[in-house]
Amino acid sequence: MAILEILKLPDPRLKEVSEPVERFDDELHGFIADLEETRLHGPAAVGIAAPQVGRLQRLVIIDCSTTRKPVPNHGRLVLVNPEITDWEGFELGREGCLSVPDYTGNVIRAERIKLTAQDPRGEALQFEMEGYEARALQHEVDHLDGMLFVDRLVSRRTDLFQRKVYQKGGKPRRN
Ligand code: NI
Repeated sequence: MAILEILKLPDPRLKEVSEPVERFDDELHGFIADLEETRLHGPAAVGIAAPQVGRLQRLVIIDCSTTRKPVPNHGRLVLVNPEITDWEGFELGREGCLSVPDYTGNVIRAERIKLTAQDPRGEALQFEMEGYEARALQHEVDHLDGMLFVDRLVSRRTDLFQRKVYQKGGKPRRN
């Protein structure tokens, strides 16, 4: 396994639209292991998307099970070709990102979502998510479409915040 380099703003690859995964083979599984090791390395991250390490494919990992306040979640999920099919409600919340290490921001997201995806073997999956997990998933799917949370701020003046401390386990969590 290997720690992969995380692309940071303004790397133009973060603005690309990623391609669907079509081959569910050993090479993909090796990449997933590397991506997970990278997520767990350094500052705490509840999620990571393949394009953040320069692989422009539709694959994300999220794990909301270690957040400080317990909220409903499905634990660690490797989601290939995730697609949000339903949105409900709106909620403003703070987000961070491994690719935007010096800032956090307030972003409006749907409170509840439904999604389809595939597992690393290509089997079909379906989920309903709410709250923090729904937010994390929406953030990661945005990466697959070349969007960062800073692209979704209502106002850069009032909704973008410089991080005071950059430390492992520091709040707020990065996505
Ligand atoms: Ni992110």
